[in-house]
Amino acid sequence: MFGYRRNTGFRRYLRLAKNTLNNNWTGSYTKPSPRLYPHQWNWDSGFIAIGYSHYDQRRAQKEIMSLFKAQWPNGMLPQIVFNARALGNYFPEPDFWQIPGGGLTSGITMPPLHATACLRIYQYARQSDEARSFLTTMYPKLVASHRYLYQSRDPKKTGLAYIRHPWESGLDNSPTWDSPLEKMRIDKKALPPYERKDLNHGIPAEQRPSDDHYDRYVYLVDLFRRYRYDEGSIYRESPFLVQDVLFNSVLSRANRDLSEIGKILKMDTGEVKEWTTETTRALRQNLWCENCSHFEAFDLVQEEFIHTSTVATFMPLFGRAASTAQAERLYEYLNSIAFCELHQGNCFTVPTHDMTQKGYDPQNYWRGPIWININWMLSQGLQAYGYREKTDAMKKDLAQLPIRFGFHEYFDSQTGEGYGSDNFSWTAALLIDLISDYYEEDRNRFGWFGLGGVRRLKRCRILNAIDGVRSDTMADVASALKAGLGDLKDKFFDMNRGLVDYESMKRSPEYAEYQKRVTQLKQFDLAQLVTREQKLAFWINLYNVLVVHGIVDLGISASVREVPDFFRNISYQIGEFLFSPDDIEHGVLRGNARPPYGIFSRFRGGDRRRQFILDEVDPRIHFALVCGSRSCAPIRFYKADHIYDQLDLAARNFINSSEVIILPEKDKIFLSQIFRWYERDFGGKKGVFQFLLRYLDRDERSRFLENHMDRIITEYLFYDWNLNH
Ligand code: GLC
Repeated sequence: MFGYRRNTGFRRYLRLAKNTLNNNWTGSYTKPSPRLYPHQWNWDSGFIAIGYSHYDQRRAQKEIMSLFKAQWPNGMLPQIVFNARALGNYFPEPDFWQIPGGGLTSGITMPPLHATACLRIYQYARQSDEARSFLTTMYPKLVASHRYLYQSRDPKKTGLAYIRHPWESGLDNSPTWDSPLEKMRIDKKALPPYERKDLNHGIPAEQRPSDDHYDRYVYLVDLFRRYRYDEGSIYRESPFLVQDVLFNSVLSRANRDLSEIGKILKMDTGEVKEWTTETTRALRQNLWCENCSHFEAFDLVQEEFIHTSTVATFMPLFGRAASTAQAERLYEYLNSIAFCELHQGNCFTVPTHDMTQKGYDPQNYWRGPIWININWMLSQGLQAYGYREKTDAMKKDLAQLPIRFGFHEYFDSQTGEGYGSDNFSWTAALLIDLISDYYEEDRNRFGWFGLGGVRRLKRCRILNAIDGVRSDTMADVASALKAGLGDLKDKFFDMNRGLVDYESMKRSPEYAEYQKRVTQLKQFDLAQLVTREQKLAFWINLYNVLVVHGIVDLGISASVREVPDFFRNISYQIGEFLFSPDDIEHGVLRGNARPPYGIFSRFRGGDRRRQFILDEVDPRIHFALVCGSRSCAPIRFYKADHIYDQLDLAARNFINSSEVIILPEKDKIFLSQIFRWYERDFGGKKGVFQFLLRYLDRDERSRFLENHMDRIITEYLFYDWNLNH
């Protein structure tokens, strides 16, 4: 494996995203979009602050504080804080909400994302003292906002907060609200007069909620103000009370983050922990519909599940509230044609509604299009549960949709076209978060690059040096190795997710056994490898186990880069020879090529290991060699008799992951550094493109590459050296 180069490819988009936020910044908060949403919105500010946390801590803090200035005395954090200077363009405004005391806010709340945002601000802060005092100010306010939900929105102490208006869900016109809204009996003639303003901004009416639904929204607001926002009376009288999956999942995640904040501040977090346990339990038990294998919202008025097929069902992954078994079932549904399967090729992920079910509408707001905040939350959830490939796909679409189609409010899941408002703040903010977190090396400052420290190995470490098992039947060494690896693989390698549980492996009897077996390699006669297929499989497997062995043996905790020259300084003894990962890769498998940017071939003049050089390089090896980092391929065991199919699969998976992003509208392709380091192995730049075409899913992007190879600009992605654990 070769070293490290900084990516600059996304810089321009970072700048554009920052400009978008700048243009929407008012001096104390950020408008969700320039015209359609001129005030401060509750959960928008949470997402926006997460974007700022990467480069403007002060502004991130200010964003949150400005919102909390409007917190109600009962702890409720309002959905909208109105800007007195921008009134007149939105409905309903304060004159309609009629808040007791005449405050400039709406009278409902939104998914409580703010503890999550505050923790992020603290974690990424450059001024840590300031961030700590920010947390100290925020903690009681955050606790009060959660306590409000548990005291006023959960009178029966179920562990779940209800929402009393669809707008509280954040997914205003989701089909989930159709049934409870339609079951409301309302006298339309008694409705107060009102004028919709959301249709005055050039957004087609078919992308917005219907008039009938608007009447029902207004009915509810009117009911709240008639009861002067008394929660007890509203609970008794409201025809709309729903325990929503997304709302409670965000609460679940925020409880965890709030308790983390409490820990940082050395506060008593007993109450918060209780909320965390209760909501996790309640989500798992009460909102899980066993028959449908989904999470469903529960209508407290009708006392029934609301059966819909929306993306909200997956949100307990973000809340870390789904059990492992539930997560498996969610994943099956999420990674299917219903929500754009991996490698499906004709769609983007993840639409807000099941594309195979009635009710899916690719252009209508929360009834089908992709929203960036949903992708962001879901990719975090999937990552936490270890679904690496899908996380990747979701992040890839999160990055490419705004870059290709603009910073829109939402996107068509089939064509990618952007809809709703342009210059939408959270789209920009979450792109910044993604780029900073995933494609740039920023986070590494906490790992090998800074605090973690770098350890130098004095000399090459031979990992099978001790005298162990002597094998009389030398012919069986390879198969013994394979069996040893098999045990490790079954227990500690997650083949679907491409992750390795190094920690548990280190302490396991299987690993002890493996260490013993690997000593037999010392007597292995490499002449037993006869065919090219046998050689390819043997050397790839050997490389992979040697790297895993090295990571465990050297106690690497965050990145292989903790040990400089890791790939050169660990080795196995095979017969009379030593082989490091670099020897195997550049010497044997790459036909004794120079390492990228190196001057000399790996095996010099009289090196007797030259006899093991494979004569022709198969570039697919680069997707089979596992370097113990997130940007390299997931680990697999290779078999001589299936080697070419397996290599094909490895290449196909890698090339359709977020390591290759084609942007037809920009004449641009972003590629993993692997294609730069090993361009020669692919037969030069043209060879790289041809190779890509061989494996890319067929869609407009691959067709674009095919037709515009000569004009497409290539930029390279940051290589993520963090450990694949
Ligand atoms: C829409 C969205 C909501 C968002 C608001 C401001 O109402 O449904 O989630 O907070 O716009 O962006």
